[in-house]
Amino acid sequence: PRTAARAQDGAVTVGGVDVRELAEEFGTPAYFLDEADFRARCHAWREAFGTDADVFYAGKAFLSRAVLRWLHEEGLNVDVCSLGELSLALDAGMPAERIALHGNNKSTAEIHRAVEAGVGRIVLDSFQEIVRVARAAEELGVRQRVQIRVTVGVEAHTHEFIATAHEDQKFGLALADGQAAEAVRRVLRLESLELVGIHSHIGSQIFDTSGFEVAAHRVVGLLREVRDEHGVQLPEIDLGGGLGIAYTPDDDPSEPHEIAKALRGIVERECAGAGLDVPRLSVEPGRAIVGPSAFTLYEVGTVKPLDGLRTYVSVDGGMSDNIRTALYDAEYTVALVSRTSQAAPLLSRVVGKHCESGDIVVKDAFLPADVAPGDLLAVPATGAYCRSMASNYNHALRPPVVAVRDGAARVIVRRETEEDLLSLDVG
Ligand code: LLP
Repeated sequence: PRTAARAQDGAVTVGGVDVRELAEEFGTPAYFLDEADFRARCHAWREAFGTDADVFYAGKAFLSRAVLRWLHEEGLNVDVCSLGELSLALDAGMPAERIALHGNNKSTAEIHRAVEAGVGRIVLDSFQEIVRVARAAEELGVRQRVQIRVTVGVEAHTHEFIATAHEDQKFGLALADGQAAEAVRRVLRLESLELVGIHSHIGSQIFDTSGFEVAAHRVVGLLREVRDEHGVQLPEIDLGGGLGIAYTPDDDPSEPHEIAKALRGIVERECAGAGLDVPRLSVEPGRAIVGPSAFTLYEVGTVKPLDGLRTYVSVDGGMSDNIRTALYDAEYTVALVSRTSQAAPLLSRVVGKHCESGDIVVKDAFLPADVAPGDLLAVPATGAYCRSMASNYNHALRPPVVAVRDGAARVIVRRETEEDLLSLDVG
C-alpha cells in the first residue's frame, strides 16, 4: 500500500497504524486493506477512462460490502460471476444497473435473479445461454440488455490457467469460426434481448498492451460485420480486465491512463477506418485495483536452516490464504515488518502450516539471518485472488480482512471461527 512507512524503531505502519498493534488487535494471519490506496486506484481508473466509458471492478478479485460501498462512491460499476457475488452486490446497495453478470455456465437461478434484479448487462457465453436468458426475460416481462463474449484468438503472455482468449478453452464464442457472428444473429432475432455490445477478456496479469490492441481490432471487425449484415451499430465494447500489477520489483505494470490511452486510441482508429461511430468503451480491472492495496500479515512460528540450501521460515497461514504460489507459481516478496535487523540476508523460503510440501507462500526471499519465532512478516500485493480464493484446507479458519485508514483499523470481513466450520458439518 502507498501509505506504508517505517516508524523510527523499525516497525512498519500502514494507514498510520503500527503493524504490531494490528497483529495484537486482529491476530494473524490477516489481510490488511488500505482504504485510501484502494480508493485512489478506483479514482485513477475513473479519471483515466472519463465519463464516456465505464469501469467495472471485477468482484472475483475480492468483494465485500465495504469494497462495494467504496466502488459505488468512487463511481465504479461491478462485474459479478456467481449468485454469491450478485447477492452481495445487491445487498450492499450497488444499483442493479451498475452490475454485469458473467460466467460460462450461469445457473437458471443466477440468470433469473439477475434479470429480476434488473442488472445492467448479462454477458452471454454460449448458444444455450442465449435461450436461457431470453426465456427468463420473457417470463419476467422485461427486455434484458446483453453483450456477447467473444474469443478473439490472441495468445496472452501469462500463465496458461489465466489466459482466456486463445481458442482451445472454455470461455466465449469464437470469432474465427463464425460462432460469434451466429450468436449475434440469434440474439438479434429475440425480442426479449437487447444486444448492446461485444465483450472480450484476454487473460490476467498481462503487461504487454499489444494483446488488448489485437483484441480491440478484432472486436471492431465484428461490429463492422454486424453493421454490414444487419444494418445495426452495436453501441458498446468491453475489453475486459487483465492488467498486471507489480508482485516483485522486476514487474513493470502500466498505469491506468496509459492503458486508457492505448485502448481508446486503437478503438477510435479502428472505428474511423471501418466508418463506425466510436462505441462506449468499458473495462473490468480487478487485480489492478485491489491487488496492491492489501498485504497479508503472518507470524513466524518455526525457523529451519538447511545447510547449503536455504532457511525454511514457517508462518501461521499458507496455501489456504494464498493459493497463488502453489497454483500459478506466482512470485511474491516478503519483509520483516515488526523490527529492523542488521543481520546478514539469508536465502529463505516462506512456507505455511499445511500438510504438503507445495505449501509455499514465497518461494525465494532474502530474510535477515536472525528471523525468529514471533517476528511478523508481511507479504505485499495480496489484495486480489487471495482472500477470494482462500480455502478451509486442513480445516483452516479463513483470515479476516481489516480495512486501515487514517490511523484507524476495522474488520470488514471477520475471521472464521471454529463454530463457523463445525456448524457446516451436520452428519
Ligand atoms: N473480466 C473477466 C471476464 C474476467 O474473467 C476477469 C478475471 C476479469 C475481468 C478481471 O481480471 P483482472 O483484472 O483481475 O486480471 N485467479 C487468478 C486470476 C483469474 C482471473 C479470472 N478472470 C489469479 O489469481 O491470478
